[in-house]
Amino acid sequence: MLTGDLVRLRPVEPEDADSLHRWHNDDEVMRWLQSYFHTSLAGTRKRIGDRQENTYEKVTLCIETLEGKLIGIVALRDADPINARAEVDIYIGEKDHWGGGYGTDALRTMCRYGFDTLRLHSIQLGVVEANERAIKSYKKVGFQVDGRYRQSFYRDGEWHDSLLMCVLKDELT
Ligand SMILES: CC(C)(COP(=O)(O)OP(=O)(O)OC[C@H]1O[C@@H](n2cnc3c(N)ncnc32)[C@H](O)[C@@H]1OP(=O)(O)O)[C@@H](O)C(=O)NCCC(=O)NCCS
Repeated sequence: MLTGDLVRLRPVEPEDADSLHRWHNDDEVMRWLQSYFHTSLAGTRKRIGDRQENTYEKVTLCIETLEGKLIGIVALRDADPINARAEVDIYIGEKDHWGGGYGTDALRTMCRYGFDTLRLHSIQLGVVEANERAIKSYKKVGFQVDGRYRQSFYRDGEWHDSLLMCVLKDELT
């Protein structure tokens, strides 16, 4: 269990399937994520059941408020031990918790774990440029824009640029 100022991060449990299923079928939550297909509850349950335990290569944790309400998911993945680099994904599925500081705190807590425990040197992520709330949150944690993929994301009839953002160990705020 990892604890931040507003959230706790804990492993995914089978009982989380209903919430994950609801979030994955919510077009507003998925708007800026690479998600093209709606998923069944049975498929979500199976995916959770088939999941490997967390390892260096992939750590997936549920985001809970300090009161114990499940609100989202954060994952560190594709850790590369030679370059000490990994990629992070995050979303808050409970929309009434957007803009409340939970995502920023969860990201900071996960990055701190990556740097202090997994001994990573850099953590990167990809974000659609139009996702202003996410970019604002990532910058608060210390992420900087390292690159741009032009017209790499298609949604609702429009092409969007994506940004590659990265935070180095000493830059985490
Ligand atoms: C992106 C996400 C993880 C951020 O978490 P969060 O808890 O909502 O973010 P925070 O409240 O910590 O910070 C968001 C900041 O953006 C601001 N903000 C809120 N809504 C905004 C909007 N529509 N446009 C621009 N900024 C906005 C907030 O005021 C806050 O800044 P502040 O602290 O200076 O006031 C969360 O909103 C989310 O999961 N969204 C849906 C899925 C998603 O887009 N995931 C990321 C894919 S890369």
